[in-house]
Amino acid sequence: MTIIQFPKDMKWGTATASYQIEGAAFEDGRGLSIWDTFSHTPGKVVNGDNGDVACDSYHRYEEDIQLMKELGISVYRFSVAWPRIFPNGKGEINPKGLEFYHKFVNALLENGIEPMCTLYHWDLPQALQDTGGWANRDTVKAFVEYAETMFKEFNGKIKKWITLNEPLCISYIANYVGAHAPGNKDLQLATDISHHLLVAHGRTVQKFRELGTKGEIGYAPNTTWFEPFSNRLEDVEACYREIDHQVRWFMDPVFIGEYPQNLVDWFKEKGVELPIEKGDMDSIQQPIDFLGINYYAGQIGRYKENTGLFDCEIVEMGYDRTDIGWPVYPDGFYNVLSYVTERYGNVPIYITENGACYNDEPVSGTVKDAKRIKYLQQHLTALSRVIESGVNIKGYFLWSMLDNFEWAEGFSKRFGIVHVDYNTLVRRKKDSYYWYKKVVNNNWFEY
Ligand code: BGC
Repeated sequence: MTIIQFPKDMKWGTATASYQIEGAAFEDGRGLSIWDTFSHTPGKVVNGDNGDVACDSYHRYEEDIQLMKELGISVYRFSVAWPRIFPNGKGEINPKGLEFYHKFVNALLENGIEPMCTLYHWDLPQALQDTGGWANRDTVKAFVEYAETMFKEFNGKIKKWITLNEPLCISYIANYVGAHAPGNKDLQLATDISHHLLVAHGRTVQKFRELGTKGEIGYAPNTTWFEPFSNRLEDVEACYREIDHQVRWFMDPVFIGEYPQNLVDWFKEKGVELPIEKGDMDSIQQPIDFLGINYYAGQIGRYKENTGLFDCEIVEMGYDRTDIGWPVYPDGFYNVLSYVTERYGNVPIYITENGACYNDEPVSGTVKDAKRIKYLQQHLTALSRVIESGVNIKGYFLWSMLDNFEWAEGFSKRFGIVHVDYNTLVRRKKDSYYWYKKVVNNNWFEY
């Protein structure tokens, strides 16, 4: 048995996102988002599921907050639905939207839970998509205006802000792979969007500083780790191209002010170029207060011509897989955290998402999700190793507080430590909830 101990000031939390839990999709003046459109398009989401009701947290947030309070977390990461604030993406504000988030944030604070707010977790107002979405620079402008509204409205109340969640998903998964809304399949478009997202992030950070907003601001990129199958140069380079895309494409411009040249060249060979305009790189390279890391899985990769975007073939190694099919690879968590610290310095890091999909259902009132507990033990152990190594970890947000709408997988995949019955909306604490509660309260666990 080993005791895994965490630093005294470690912050423990859980995370969710608006479209995945709120429901109330057509209430109180909320405009449509690209996820309403996408999920209502036949064939896009498993079982034709949509977020119209989801966990109904819009109406049941008090119950959810009681679950958090009992869990003992000190921070909660949620996202704001942009179309609740600006139903058309810009222009007229919907006061009911602001009212909802005030009520919600007040309730968190009254219960001793600090809010961490993500401004964009994928629910772009459909009205903005209709004029080109993130491919149109006007969307960048609209985003900064929306962010400004939020900063002014919640100044002093919300002190932890995240501009964007997983820009790689917003650009390449949604616009090159086409698996997420709006579902395009165009490499140039996805690349344009990736750049515009970074500009939006940087200008939002600038606005935050200009306004003198209290608190800290960061963002939360993806970080799937790729380990080379062998140390053959071709395998190593193929894996590094994947890592360079996951990590460096979205972090180098922010921390260093330039894109990784090897990928710029790689894309150029495919006829794809970045739409950089004068001043963009300066706008992007704004000092941030923390880096959010979302980590779920790692892969073993091997060079194979004409495979994927980067000639990297995923090799099946027989690792355990979660119920969404992702290999359990805690060493990747250790590696990515070490890698970003080595590359970008000792930046404060919040683990803004980590967790596992296991679809265990209640049996006689309890949900025995032992595999999720094991996954969490493995990943928190990796986390304690990097902390010991000096990586500047400030906190950990478990994904997710509740089972919820898992994007293109609909309700077929469960990540929660609280089970949600989608017929009755009854919440039921899983074994992992009780296990995490002990970690949160003790600040250590035995493994
Ligand atoms: C996203 C979440 C999602 C989770 C599990 C992350 O990519 O930020 O919204 O539910 O992973 O897929």
